[in-house]
Amino acid sequence: MTAVTRTDHDPSDSAAAYYDLLAAAHGPAALPSVSYFASHARRTDRVLDIGAGTGRIALAIAEQGNRVYCVEPSAAMRAVLLAKLATSTALRDRVTVVPGAAPVFDLPGRFDYAYLAGVMQYLPGENRPLLFDTVVRHLRHGATLALDMIGGAPGSGWPTELVGDIAVGESTYALHCEATPVGLSALRMTLDYSTTLDGRLLSATRVERVRHFHSPQDTVDDLEAAGFTVIGGSATTAAEPPADGGTLLATLDHRHAGAAGALVR
Ligand SMILES: C[S@@+](CC[C@H](N)C(=O)[O-])C[C@H]1O[C@@H](n2cnc3c(N)ncnc32)[C@H](O)[C@@H]1O
Repeated sequence: MTAVTRTDHDPSDSAAAYYDLLAAAHGPAALPSVSYFASHARRTDRVLDIGAGTGRIALAIAEQGNRVYCVEPSAAMRAVLLAKLATSTALRDRVTVVPGAAPVFDLPGRFDYAYLAGVMQYLPGENRPLLFDTVVRHLRHGATLALDMIGGAPGSGWPTELVGDIAVGESTYALHCEATPVGLSALRMTLDYSTTLDGRLLSATRVERVRHFHSPQDTVDDLEAAGFTVIGGSATTAAEPPADGGTLLATLDHRHAGAAGALVR
């Protein structure tokens, strides 16, 4: 039987056309950091990118010779990534793109390195144990997991500010963002994507999203409960909020993993 195609609109669909442009506007300093996440992929590794977006990081890792599995809920984000793969036979052989979302997904095989780059913000803290158990089920013994967006606090939010803009020909693509607190560990973000030509508004799209904050200690505790040992990352040491978004790096020892680890033999 043919799989059912979901037609629901994902909030990231509205961001997809702007995503790489706004990353380019910030240059090599754009977060999530491509160099940070790519640096943990050893050659010949089988790599899992959870929330791959347009493949900024996945393609950099695939260009090193690795095979990368990309899980991404947004059809528009996947479409941008697939369009990039259309132009390279070599990368098309190494990069697999599938619809899916944390905290629960089920992929074939085991991976040597997994990462969530810019994704933890979309998961509430109570989903971390389920997420880490899911990740454990997909990793080999000794595998590495990298995360960012750990630490920081919602504070009192901020009024509308320009996140970034970039010219393409005579058009300008821009993102403005306003944030208001929701409880103690989340912000409601109002994201306004706009396209202008000669100062005239051609297109405007508003997206409302909740951004969740994760305490470094609670996240480390959940990683250790799942069988990981935390070996580094700015979230373990930096004053908050860390400039790189707050990273954690962990390795998996299946002997210390719980029920999820027991499935991987
Ligand atoms: C800030 S973007 C980061 C994209 C990419 N990882 C990068 O670093 O360029 C966040 C991505 O996470 C995806 N996402 C949101 N919720 C998710 C979930 N529950 N599971 C997996 N990915 C999710 C979004 O669709 C979006 O593509």
